[in-house]
Parts: sequence; C-alpha cells; structure tokens
Amino acid sequence: MASFAPSPADVADIGVTGMAVMGSNLARNLARNGFKVAIHNRSVERTEKVIADHGSDGEFYPSESIDDFVASLQKPRVAIIMVKAGGPTDAVIDELAARMEPGDIIVDAGNALFTDTRRREEALRAKGLHFVGTGVSGGEEGALNGPSIMPGGTKESYDRLGPMFETIAANVDGAPCCTHVGADGAGHFVKMVHNGIEYADMQVISEAYDLMSKALGMSASEIGDVFAEWNTGDLESFLIEITADVLHQVDADTGKAFVDVILDQAAQKGTGAWTVQTALELGVPVTGIAEATFARSVSGSVPQREAARGVLPAKAEAPEIADRAAFIDDLQKALYAAKLVSYSQGFDEIAAGADHYGWDINLGDMARIWRGGCIIRARFLDRITEAYERNGDLALLLADEYFTREITECIPAWRRVVAYAATAGLPVPVFASTLSYYDSVRAERLPAALVQAQRDFFGAHTYRRVDADGTYHIEWTGDRSQTRQDG
Ligand code: 6PG
Repeated sequence: MASFAPSPADVADIGVTGMAVMGSNLARNLARNGFKVAIHNRSVERTEKVIADHGSDGEFYPSESIDDFVASLQKPRVAIIMVKAGGPTDAVIDELAARMEPGDIIVDAGNALFTDTRRREEALRAKGLHFVGTGVSGGEEGALNGPSIMPGGTKESYDRLGPMFETIAANVDGAPCCTHVGADGAGHFVKMVHNGIEYADMQVISEAYDLMSKALGMSASEIGDVFAEWNTGDLESFLIEITADVLHQVDADTGKAFVDVILDQAAQKGTGAWTVQTALELGVPVTGIAEATFARSVSGSVPQREAARGVLPAKAEAPEIADRAAFIDDLQKALYAAKLVSYSQGFDEIAAGADHYGWDINLGDMARIWRGGCIIRARFLDRITEAYERNGDLALLLADEYFTREITECIPAWRRVVAYAATAGLPVPVFASTLSYYDSVRAERLPAALVQAQRDFFGAHTYRRVDADGTYHIEWTGDRSQTRQDG
C-alpha cells in the first residue's frame, strides 16, 4: 500500500516516471520551479521515498499505478521517462502510449541512441503522439540545479515543453541552456556528440596528468595545483575544475592520493562508441573522440596488457627536461589545442548529422546551450557561438579567425609535447591524433593519392585526376594505358 493518497485527475503540469537519482532530481527541479509534478516509479517505494525526503520541494502528485500517473496529467499531457535505455524505455513508452491521446507528449530524457529515438518518434507520430528524445547533461547535480537540455522532436512539442525546460535549465548570462535542437532524434544526436567530446576532454586531461606524473615526477596534489591554476585561464571548464579537485583528494583508508588507489581501467556506457560509430557511418573524422574511446578500451584490455607488460620494451630515452615550468606551459597549450580540435571535430559531426537527417540545427546555439549545466561546460564555448554567428556556413571551426589565431599560438608547444611523449615512450593518443588531424586537414596535398592508385591497381576502383574531369582506370596488368570510365 502506497503511503500517499491517490492524486487528483488533470492536475499536474508535467510528469516524470523513473525515480532513480536522475529522474527524481529532474522532478524536484521542476517542482522547485513552481511546476506541479506528477511522479511515478515501477516500484512504489522509490516514489514514497521522494515524497518522504523531498516532498517539501514543491507540489508533487505521486501515483502508484501508471493509469493514475497518466490520469493526473493536465492535457495535452507531458510525461518524461527517465529509465534505463533500450528495452526498459520501450516498455514504458508502450505503457504510456496505450493510455495517452493525440497531442500528448512523451519525453525520453535518458541517453538513448538517436536512431532508436527516430524509430520511436515515427511509431508514436503514427498514433498522433509527440515523442521527444531529449539530451540532459549535468549528472545528478545538474538535473537538480540546472542541466543543459537538448530536446528534439516537433516544434509544436517544444512550444509546450520549452517554457518549462528553459525554466529549469542552467542559465548563463540570462540565456537558458536549452533550445529546440531539431526534429525527431536531433536532440539525442547532439547529446551523443556532447558525450563524445566529453570523452576526448577527459582523456586529454588525463594524458596531461600522466606526463606531469611520469615525466616530471610530480605528485597528484602538485598536479592538482597546476589544473587549479589552468582553470583560471583559457582552459577554464568544469572538467578541469573537477580534475584539480579529484587530484587533491586523499584516500581515507591508505592516506595515499586517491587517484593512485583507483584501478586504471576506464569504463564506458556506450555514448562515446555511438559517437564514433555514427561518425564512421557519416564519414566524419572525429579522431580525438575515437582515440579517447579506444584509450578506454586499451585500459580495459586486461589480458593484452598483462601479456605485454614487462615483455614489450620501450626502447625509449626520455629527453631531459631542463625547464619544468616551460614543459608545464607546453602541456597547457597542447591541451588547449587538442581540445579545440576535438570540439571542431564534434561540430563537424553535428553538421554532417544535420545534413544527412535533414535537421535544421543551429551550431552556434549548440555551443551556447553547453555553456552551463553540462559536463563539457567551458569558458571558450562563447567563442564557438561567436564564430558561427560570424559565419553560419563555417566549414571548419578551426578555420574561424579567432580559433586559427588561438591554435596557431599553441602549435610549437603541441609538437614538443607529442615529440617528447613519443621519444619517452609515453602514450598520448589524443594529443597525437589531434595533432595529426591538424596537419592532415591543413595539408596542401595528402598521400590519399597513393591510396587511390593502389585501389585502382588491385581492384580497378578508379581515380580522378588533378588536371582533368572524369574518373579513370589504368590497365595495370596490360599495357598500362589509361581509360576514362565515366562515359
Ligand atoms: C552528462 C554525462 C552523462 C553520463 C555519461 C557517462 O552529460 O551528464 O555525459 O550522460 O555521465 O553517460 O558516460 P560513460 O559512463 O560512458 O563515461
């Protein structure tokens, strides 16, 4: 028996089903902002606990059954689902859809794969329902106090949802960190890329930490001081800030630096891999994100690491670091440059996704809604918005005048860091891959010409010429004459 009276019908502005931490915090955030919030969970104990612990946050309308939950919503109804991605989400969608009417809105605020969101949106649209896949970033704290919110779905659904979401979202300089991203799966697509960028940011920060630790022999807490200092400049961001905090943490059991007692195997729930898989399908080189994702995989490749450890030699001679302060300064610049490349690549993926799926995504707005609330919130996101305002057709973020200037200043330091790491035998997958990308994308000419020749040699895959239109093939096994293949 639930320890609350049944809620009245047609009363709540919005409902949330799924009362784990993210769902209950989102519901509390809505309630604290004056919305009447219906809440529900598969097992009623969690709903009871939210009421018992946080009932005073605002007006909650708890329900034990999904029927009562739906009935308690004002029409057109809005119900947010905050349950596990995949099967559990599909199950709850079916339960809600069976009880809803045309014009009602179902919101999936979990980290769903955008292609699932597109499928669900299409199925519910056929029933006259709106399905809104929405990215929500900021973790537990953000959900409660102001996340960055990235809703997809119809414009019509945003007319109903937007005012509520913009009220509960983080707010930077008077602007809410929420906007209508685009149709169907656009919101989850953008959230996916956000997470990919998050992976790259986290990895490159960790590479800088690793170099300070191994090349300079600095303690975790000393490195924490460096990150705290970096957080006062161009690198200012949530992830740099928490890195400083984490590195200053001492393990209560051993008295050692906390980071030193953590097993060095990074887990992943899948959004980084989705970003890379999608980028491969769209043909977008998100090399920084890919290397960051694979770096987690390498860390978790336990049998391979055991087989290699102590067997495969480094054959490396770490160059002497005469000026430690200069080395740290180089790391700061390299970190900034690598970060700029990761963001530039991420925005390329959003642009490619928008193009492919027909979404009208404003790239500058995406940077704007990431300025607060989300995990990758950072000072320089303003500069990205400005770059897209200067030129809405910007083909490459790095080619914007501001970013070109910024990255140019970092190049010598970035090269020294990558060269040092390679010579010393220290892995820097994101530092190195982003530098390689930088040198590739700016190259006058790439060795791809040779790849094309090889493809034509063994597979008659044809090639194009620099000096004439058309596609051609060489009779490699015959007289090696060239023939035009396209008519
Ligand atoms: C956010 C986070 C959030 C979550 C990731 C972590 O934006 O609030 O990205 O979505 O922390 O799922 O992902 P991994 O477990 O894959 O690191």
